Amino acid sequence: MAAVSTATPDTLPPLDQLVPVARRLPPDPREETLAALYADEEPRRGACTVRANMVASLDGAAWGADGRSGSLNDAADWRVFRVLRALADVVLVGAGTARAEGYRALDRPRGLEHLRPAPLELAVVTRSGRVPERLRVGDRPPFVLTGSDGAAPARAAVPAERVVVVGPGGDLDLVAGLAELARRGLRRVLAEGGPSLLGDLLAADLVDELCVTTTPRVVGPGPGRIVAGPRPDAAAENHAGTVLPRDARLVHLLHAPQDRDDSPAGTTLARWSLPIG
Ligand SMILES: NC(=O)c1ccc[n+]([C@@H]2O[C@H](COP(=O)([O-])OP(=O)(O)OC[C@H]3O[C@@H](n4cnc5c(N)ncnc54)[C@H](OP(=O)(O)O)[C@@H]3O)[C@@H](O)[C@H]2O)c1
Repeated sequence: MAAVSTATPDTLPPLDQLVPVARRLPPDPREETLAALYADEEPRRGACTVRANMVASLDGAAWGADGRSGSLNDAADWRVFRVLRALADVVLVGAGTARAEGYRALDRPRGLEHLRPAPLELAVVTRSGRVPERLRVGDRPPFVLTGSDGAAPARAAVPAERVVVVGPGGDLDLVAGLAELARRGLRRVLAEGGPSLLGDLLAADLVDELCVTTTPRVVGPGPGRIVAGPRPDAAAENHAGTVLPRDARLVHLLHAPQDRDDSPAGTTLARWSLPIG
């Protein structure tokens, strides 16, 4: 039987805090306004700041029919995605995403180099140490964060100094991994997923900020959410002292009323801050 709400207009909290969303940012090749909107907040966790950026469909899908998030996003998402990459020191991804999305060595988004004139690094998180083929070639290998089980395959794929072993066996200590990145001067971490890595980062209370784009597409049943993994209480050994569920604070909300071709759209782009749990 469906649950019946007993709330009536008299018992609901007053809705005097609702604000219409009306933020329009004209095209700007240098993206100074967007960069200011996404400027660092006060660092709260010492060595580094972790900002996660994810896109979801209106009905919560983390990927589209082709198994990739690229089929969900649009010009508005792309615009913020570029700015977030321009502001980061390092992009952190799970190996599953690196494989599914075909990651290669990263460049600063063209035209936005002025926002942080330093190379953009990539760090791949993997238990297996399996580095996608596309990241094995070229002269800019990623950092590979892995446990001792993944060390040998990772060292076979990228130079040894890029392999960061942070944990025994198949385990990976994400806190130690982030500290190792910070020790290399990579303090502004942009976590681009995927859902399993984001689940682990959230469960370990390592996410300072969650940027979520919601695009106006209904994908239907099938794909997972932007966060995956067992509930923390079902894996207490790995997630002792979890702070989930937790509240977030909206820093800002952008709204793209139209897509690039002027077709009706309605993408929203939210920047949420997660207070320390
Ligand atoms: N909607 C979005 O914004 C978004 C963003 C990114 C990805 N995606 C989509 O998400 C799907 C992939 O999901 P996924 O959950 O498999 O992605 P994922 O988290 O990137 O990949 C999972 C793999 O990453 C490694 N990994 C993740 N967390 C780890 C941890 N704590 N310690 C050690 N290794 C860890 C493991 O690699 P090994 O197997 O090598 O051990 C694991 O099998 C794709 O369809 C992708 O397109 C969506």
